[in-house]
Amino acid sequence: MMQSDELPSEFVRVASAAEVRPGTARACAIGEREVALFNVDGEFFALENTCPHQGGPIADGTLEGTLVTCPWHGWCFDVRTGKMTLGEFASIDRYAVRQAGREIYVSLEPVA
Ligand code: FES
Repeated sequence: MMQSDELPSEFVRVASAAEVRPGTARACAIGEREVALFNVDGEFFALENTCPHQGGPIADGTLEGTLVTCPWHGWCFDVRTGKMTLGEFASIDRYAVRQAGREIYVSLEPVA
C-alpha cells in the first residue's frame, strides 16, 4: 500500500478482498483501463494490466512473492513498484490501493 502523501484523491472499488486469494491476481476494469490486482500475503498491489513488451495480460502471469512473470514471454516485474527486475528499461504503471473493510479500492489514475 502507498504512503498517504502519495495517494491520489479519487479511488474506485475494484473487488472484494475475498475475490483475490493470497498469491493470486485478478484483472479489474477501471473505466477504459484494466488493472491487475495482486494479493501478496494479504497486501494488495495494482499495476496496469498490460505488459510493456507486447501487451501481455500480467494478471494472468505467475505471482511468486512480490514478483509477477508475464505469461507471454516471461518478463518479470515487482508488483510493489512496477519495475522490471532485469533493469530500468521497462516498467508498468502502478496504482495506489486502499482497503476499506472487505473492499479493495484502486486509484483512478496511476501514481508517479
Ligand atoms: S508481452 Fe509480456 S513478456 Fe512479452
